[in-house]
Amino acid sequence: MSTATQSPARRVHIETFGCQMNKSDSEKMLGLLAKDGYHWTDEQAEADLILINSCSIRENAVNRLIGHLGRMKALKRQNPELVIGVGGCVPQHEKENLLKRVPHLDIVFGTHTFHKLPELVREFRENQRPIVSIVRQLDEYPEEIPVVREGQHHAWITVQHGCSAFCTFCIVPYTRGQQQSRTPEAVAEEIRKVAAEGYKEITLLGQNINTYGWDLEPATSLGQLLHYIHDIDGIERIRFLTSHPVNMRDDLIDAMAELPKVCEFLHLPLQAGNDEVLKRMRRNHTVEFYAEWVEKIRAKVPDMVLTSDFIVGYPGETEEQFLDTVESVRRFAFDSANTASYSPRPRTPAAMFKDQVDEAVKKERLNHLNQVVREVALQQNRRHLGSIQEVMVESYDEKRGNLKGRTRGNKIVHFEGNPRLIGQIVQIKVMDVTPNSLRGRMLVS
Ligand code: SAM
Ligand code: SF4
Ligand code: F3S
Repeated sequence: MSTATQSPARRVHIETFGCQMNKSDSEKMLGLLAKDGYHWTDEQAEADLILINSCSIRENAVNRLIGHLGRMKALKRQNPELVIGVGGCVPQHEKENLLKRVPHLDIVFGTHTFHKLPELVREFRENQRPIVSIVRQLDEYPEEIPVVREGQHHAWITVQHGCSAFCTFCIVPYTRGQQQSRTPEAVAEEIRKVAAEGYKEITLLGQNINTYGWDLEPATSLGQLLHYIHDIDGIERIRFLTSHPVNMRDDLIDAMAELPKVCEFLHLPLQAGNDEVLKRMRRNHTVEFYAEWVEKIRAKVPDMVLTSDFIVGYPGETEEQFLDTVESVRRFAFDSANTASYSPRPRTPAAMFKDQVDEAVKKERLNHLNQVVREVALQQNRRHLGSIQEVMVESYDEKRGNLKGRTRGNKIVHFEGNPRLIGQIVQIKVMDVTPNSLRGRMLVS
């Protein structure tokens, strides 16, 4: 996150772990604190307030958090005025335990209370007593939160809070609460605001975004929302994350096919390529069901970039079932996939299953899967060799000494050019590829 550093007394540093939702929440935390007189600093040692926006998706995320906080003890010794807070998903289940594990921690807040942050910090500074502010859910989420965005051309737009899917492995419904959609009007208003500020690209965020609007009165859908926001002036590219396959609907694919600003990018996590495992994960669909949607999607949007998440070593997963997952990566030709070893999480049903898979087996399976994911990603990227891609220029990559941008399909592209092009859309001919990115040459128009 980079904001102006000139500073009166108060400086804040926020470290963000986890998903895009956390990134987006951190931008709101910074917005709230900026209103209260705080300025951003890149340096923890210069900060009067350090916040960690934590993730709880896997056990190692929690251990990393505790390790991080441990290292901050020295900073507190150097600067007795320093206030340290932890927010995000971990406090939702660890609550005051965090204060016991980390005695130099001052404020523990959660996914539903970060809008109170300025108040909480002031209260701590006055009383010097540790504060825990956690609630399970809000009946209504505040709409008027100021935001200091990290990107200058791309903005995250939360359209849905929480998740009610309760996949057996996942802690998110416990840390983020039940699904609550924002109204299309509130979403459109935020998009109009970012467009007026010069943002050209938006990503709509929801943990189970394909059920967007099903809980509203009157009910609506993600497909309808895309139509509703499509013509907002200034916005050139629209994406959304994350789609649960079971909630895929025709009107969404039609919207993707019909609306020019909606990019050819779909993150559609399969999680496992075996029906028995999917059933035990409570994903509520089969591999063939997934295959039918992929076929439909590719028929209507032939250039669709398709990505997935996978978990290996889910309780009870046999070698054969794991190999079905490997096979599914080849079958569906994913452009990329996030992979992880299953990690038991508190309160989730799968953590209680007796047939947990040995850590060494999980590690081996993860390595195997990663190898195939890279191989397939490279094959997919090779298909773009020689093609001309419309690329949004995002940044100058100091290390490589070149520009970095993204295709409509969300692929990273490196190319030479003037940093003044940042924020513009240029045409790039793809000359070379790796599993993770494309390299190209800019066409002069
Ligand atoms: N809502 C999305 C979905 O339905 O796929 C993603 C939620 S989660 C933030 C991102 C990914 O983390 C999941 O897709 C899953 O692959 C992985 N994940 C969740 N719980 C996990 C666990 N207990 N162990 C390992 N990976 C996990
Ligand atoms: Fe977790 Fe499933 Fe909800 Fe995704 S849909 S956040 S994996 S419970
Ligand atoms: Fe992590 Fe919470 Fe996101 S657990 S992945 S930060 S919703």
